[in-house]
Amino acid sequence: MQDYYLAPSILSADLAQIGSEVQNVLRAGADMIHFDVMDNHYVPNLTFGPSVCLALRDYGVTAPIDVHLMVTPVDRIIPDFASAGATYISFHPEASENIGHTLKLINDESCKAGLAFNPETSLDVLDHFLQQVDMILVMSVNPGFPNQTFIPTVLDKVWEARQRIDRSGLDIRLEVDGGIKKENIQKIRDAGADTFVAGSAIFGASNKGDPNYYDTAVNNLRSQLLATASS
Ligand code: DX5
Ligand code: ZN
Repeated sequence: MQDYYLAPSILSADLAQIGSEVQNVLRAGADMIHFDVMDNHYVPNLTFGPSVCLALRDYGVTAPIDVHLMVTPVDRIIPDFASAGATYISFHPEASENIGHTLKLINDESCKAGLAFNPETSLDVLDHFLQQVDMILVMSVNPGFPNQTFIPTVLDKVWEARQRIDRSGLDIRLEVDGGIKKENIQKIRDAGADTFVAGSAIFGASNKGDPNYYDTAVNNLRSQLLATASS
């Protein structure tokens, strides 16, 4: 049986209460925290950097932190995220001047390395770098903002990535990021994903005062993942 990971994206969390938001989703059963880093250059939005990652560690967060770099240049910031407690560090191949070097930098810092693919970007670079990656991150929206609509043609790419992983026999996670809701998560699972980012579907509702808010938000997705067949 597949080991599915749910990775809530703090991009949609209440940033004035980020520590408790993160602890609440982890208590509700989330597996890791997706940490979207945007630089107002590679993407037209600006979020948070290593100091916020470190603040989560200092707050007591021990779960894996899944850093998704949407920045250029990419290499300079990697050691800072490693020191700040990142578990995974993923980057977009077109943001790196030397993909092999960037992957090595991440591995040398004892972090797990990911390659992130925009909806329009081919997976072909994996022909050269699959041995060096711990995660393939397939974007199902154009990066930059939460709460966008899932692009269904990306399912073919998820399937292609699954074939590449299975053929290789390597231990690589296949993460899908963008527009995941309880209505489409089964289709994404059935295309071969094992790791699911959800921002607005988990943090985005307005009824945060409800004592069951986080359990409901996480279980809405988990129950779909664990159900047998796609409807
Ligand atoms: C988009 C980010 C995503 C985003 C997902 O650039 O990489 O991680 O937060 O948010 P939702 O789940 O709302 O599409
Ligand atoms: Zn992301």
